[in-house]
Formats: sequence, C-alpha cells, structure tokens
Amino acid sequence: MNSTSAPDSTCTITSSQSIHSQAGHGAAHDASTYQFPHSSIYTENMARQDSREKRRRIEATPPNSELAGTSSDASHISAASPTALEEAEAAAAAAALAPPIDYDHGADSASLTSSIRQHNYEYGLRYHGYRPGLYSFPNDEAEQERDVVMHELSIRFWEERYFLAPVEKQLEMRAQVLDLATGIGIWCEQMADKYPLSSFEGIDLSPIQSAEVPPNVRFYVDDMEHEQGWNVDGNKFDFIHLRHTLHSVRNMPELFRRAYEHLKPGGYFEVQEVECIVRCDDGTVKPGHEYALRTWLDAVASGLRTRCGSDLRAISYATAEMRAAGFEVEEHCRKCPVGTWAADERRRVCGGLLAESLIAGIWGLSARPLAAIGWTRPQIEMLLVTVRDHVRDPRNHAYMNFFTIYGRKPLE
Ligand SMILES: C[S@@+](CC[C@H](N)C(=O)[O-])C[C@H]1O[C@@H](n2cnc3c(N)ncnc32)[C@H](O)[C@@H]1O
Repeated sequence: MNSTSAPDSTCTITSSQSIHSQAGHGAAHDASTYQFPHSSIYTENMARQDSREKRRRIEATPPNSELAGTSSDASHISAASPTALEEAEAAAAAAALAPPIDYDHGADSASLTSSIRQHNYEYGLRYHGYRPGLYSFPNDEAEQERDVVMHELSIRFWEERYFLAPVEKQLEMRAQVLDLATGIGIWCEQMADKYPLSSFEGIDLSPIQSAEVPPNVRFYVDDMEHEQGWNVDGNKFDFIHLRHTLHSVRNMPELFRRAYEHLKPGGYFEVQEVECIVRCDDGTVKPGHEYALRTWLDAVASGLRTRCGSDLRAISYATAEMRAAGFEVEEHCRKCPVGTWAADERRRVCGGLLAESLIAGIWGLSARPLAAIGWTRPQIEMLLVTVRDHVRDPRNHAYMNFFTIYGRKPLE
C-alpha cells in the first residue's frame, strides 16, 4: 500500500493484524491496563489548566460532522440548544475578562477585533478563525491538553530545562523574549514567573492563552509567517523560541531570516521539535508499514504537504537552514521512546507522555491532513485503532529523535 494514499479499510486492518502476530505481538494486549505516567509536573500543569476554565467556557461544543464535511462558524451553533446559549453567554463574559490582545497589520484591525475571537468548525473539531485554514490542527480543549502534555514532556526530557541556549544570565537581568506559535502560552507564562525582570511576548493564530498572566507577559494573535512581518512591541529580542510547530511552517528560510532580523547581535534563536520519524534499534519494530504509527505519520506528512506545503519532518534539516540564515548553530538530538518500554525512568515517563499526546489527540491531528489526501472518516478511524494498539504495546521499542537546535546571531 502506498503509505499516503487512502487505504482499503478492510485490507489495512487484516494486514496489520496478521503482521502484528508475525512480529510476535499477537498475544492479547489489554489496552485498558495501560497506565500513562502522570507526574507531579503534569498534575501541576493540569491544575493550571483548570484555572483556564473561564476561557474554556467559550468553547461551545460544535455539532458532530462527517469528514465529507462542514465548515462553520461558532455563530452557527449559538441558538442550537440551551447549552449553546449558555456557552454564548459565557463567551461574552470570557471575552470581557480577557486581556487586550493586539494583533496585526494596520487598517483592518477593527474588523479583526471580533473575527479573531471566532473559531471555525470542521469534522466536529474547532479550529482558529483568524486567517482560517492556515494551521492544520484544532485549537479546542483536547488539543490544548495535548499542548500541556507536550510541555511536560519537553521540560522533563531536557532535564527540567526550559531552553538549552546559553541565555540564563540575560534572562536573570532584563531580556526581551519572543515565543513564536505560543499555543496556550504555557512556556511563556512559566518562564515569566521564573524570570520576572524579563519580558515575554507570545504570538499565535489562536486566542487560547490565559487571561491571568504574569505582568511581564503579553500575547498577540498573529501569523508568524505574515507577509508583512511581526507586529510585536519588542522589535529586537535577546531570545526567540519556537517549539513543536516547525512542522507547520510553510517557508522555513524566510522564518529563520525573520528571526535573525529581529534578534539583537549576540541573541539566540532556539527551536525544539520531535522529528516524527519512527526508529527502532532492536528489531522489535520492523521496517516498512507494519507499525501503524509509521503509516499514520507518513499520511499526516503527505497531508501537511498537500494542505499547506509544510514538512512534518522539517526539524531534520533545520540546523542547515539556521546556518544558511547566518546563525552560529549548536544541535542537540536525543532519542525519545514512544510508549513506556524504556528501562530508564525519565525515558519511560517521557515515552508515556509522547504516547499519550499522540493517542489523546490523534483524531484532531488526523482530520484535516488526511482529508486533504482523500481519506474518509471510516478509513481514518480504522487506521487509528491500529495506531493506538501499536503505540500502547510495550513490546514495540519505537522511538523518535527529539531535537533542540539553537543559533546565535553573531556580534556585529
Ligand atoms: C503544537 S502547538 C505548540 C504550542 C507551543 N509552542 C508549545 O510548545 O507549547 C502549535 C501552535 O502553533 C500555532 N501556529 C501554527 N502556525 C502558526 C503561524 N503561522 N503563526 C502563529 N501561530 C501558529 C498554532 O495555532 C498552535 O497553537
């Protein structure tokens, strides 16, 4: 089967199951006994998320829709039921509570004021409404929780470090920091708590950040690839950070050039990302498409390429691109297990978190990219069943490379 074309559902399941048993994995595996290694950091982060409840209430549940698809605005559901009406009232209350969010680019700002707060709905999922369609993944509660899990994973994986670039001293004094594609803003908020003298700006397509932020944080709704550039307060930064979003960048050389341009001489640009290429060192995961996570990742990669021209695996060559943009670059790459198979505790916890983030968010991660290459909802759902099984099975010793790459803008 071509990994990126829509599969024959029956064939996919049959072939995956038989190969599964050929690989010696045929014994019954009770998925319900699978325990994700929730740690205290995870619990704390989830508690922080609970305090976002006010904002969450703006997230009216959209009507369920099939892949063949609907695209609707939040207003479509406002009168659907008493619950939806309550949600609409909560939305108004939450919008009134929210801090001012600045966004971009000149004369059309006034008309954007309301439109950036709206969302689009497709496939029963909620997506950003500002510059709709640019980003392929949802911005709803499930995706926000996935951001928390990935945050927890990233901090643990790099030994409780929020960054690897040597910027600690500047941060302790008075640094200006920009977090590109900040998501729920969790990295920015926690960094702002740790470094109260520094100021943090985060930009994202979605207004999903907390209303209760430290005074040294400011969030903007903006497209980091906007053709008119970034419209943020700080023009020159000491540190620019981009995490888990390179897969959706349409023009990496231009984005890196822009980061270079917006740094002070001696400033750093850091990118963190999981490579999304399945690897295995002990033969428990066979080459080819016997491991459904690989099939799925290849399909998502193809879908992203088709939808928006980005590369799911762009981190593989980000070091070269950063050098080409003029940075002095250092690359760190480590193996992150998929699932809880590793002996070492940190790796086991991180592997569990990575598996959790994939499994919990997998429908949201699949819908737009796979629809773009012609998959139907039943086809996707059949593959996802197998992906979940393979990821949860501790006999599959799969891992993916996790990169931190940082570059310094030379002193002039
Ligand atoms: C997987 S989340 C990562 C969030 C955050 N960087 C973190 O590590 O917690 C990706 C985020 O990138 C944002 N995004 C994607 N393309 C963007 C763009 N062109 N401009 C601004 N934000 C973008 C999405 O809206 C989403 O919130």
